[in-house]
Amino acid sequence: MQNIAIQVDDLKKSYKKLDVLKGVNLTVEQGSIFALLGSNGAGKTTLVKILTTLLNQDRGTAIVNGFDVASQPAHVRQSLSLTGQFAAVDEMLTGRENLIMVARLRHLTHPRQVADELLTRFGLTEAANRRASTYSGGMRRRLDIAMSLVGKPQILFLDEPTTGLDPEARIEMWKVVKELADGGMTVFLTTQYLDEAEQLADRIAILHEGKIIASGTLMELKKLFPPAEKKYVEKQPTLEEIFLAIIGKKEEQ
Ligand SMILES: Nc1ncnc2c1ncn2[C@@H]1O[C@H](COP(=O)(O)OP(=O)(O)OP(=O)(O)O)[C@@H](O)[C@H]1O
Ligand SMILES: [Mg+2]
Repeated sequence: MQNIAIQVDDLKKSYKKLDVLKGVNLTVEQGSIFALLGSNGAGKTTLVKILTTLLNQDRGTAIVNGFDVASQPAHVRQSLSLTGQFAAVDEMLTGRENLIMVARLRHLTHPRQVADELLTRFGLTEAANRRASTYSGGMRRRLDIAMSLVGKPQILFLDEPTTGLDPEARIEMWKVVKELADGGMTVFLTTQYLDEAEQLADRIAILHEGKIIASGTLMELKKLFPPAEKKYVEKQPTLEEIFLAIIGKKEEQ
């Protein structure tokens, strides 16, 4: 089982009388991008919190990077990083200061060097010495992800990484995530956007009413549904294509 990054078996979690996770099973391969889809309140954040040791499950097991989240939380924590649904950036600090702070917290030997490398990689060098409060939503998200990469985690959890971003910033974020996975990192992301999962994920799972109701590659999921009816009509551009054309950006795939 060396190539398994995350293994979840019959995971259950309730908040008092509210049964949120009712027996979740999933497997994530190392170096892949796994997308967990679900509507508001489906339990995505709850599952991410359990996998990142922020919350205890009621029943079932979760193995992350070979360690049990319930009995070996410290080991689990060492191998992962979480970019939560709400950014962890300190608005009063500059981008560089935010990164240096995280590098110091993780006891790295060259915090400034680590910060500068990440600033370059995420295109934030010019804004490095400005307070994060002056950053756009997309820049803040990038800084947030850069902060979570300090210390080179093996698994990156991204809880709704593109919610609230404009289409341009979303595509930029997708590019970053793809590059990380190409570099061998396992990425577990949650999203409410079908197109995001379609663009990014090697495997997709749909969480609904406490269980994974479908999972597989995009092709496998498409096979679950009858083939689309063929109609000979002019293809209308999507709103996203129109938006990008107007602002003069081409979608990079
Ligand atoms: N600490 C808590 N106490 C009680 N109920 C909670 C708690 N945290 C979450 N819930 C409830 O559990 C359910 C699942 O919440 P969760 O945040 O995991 O959903 P989600 O899929 O991440 O939703 P969203 O897409 O809105 O982020 C919701 O009904 C929520 O109200
Ligand atoms: Mg959530």
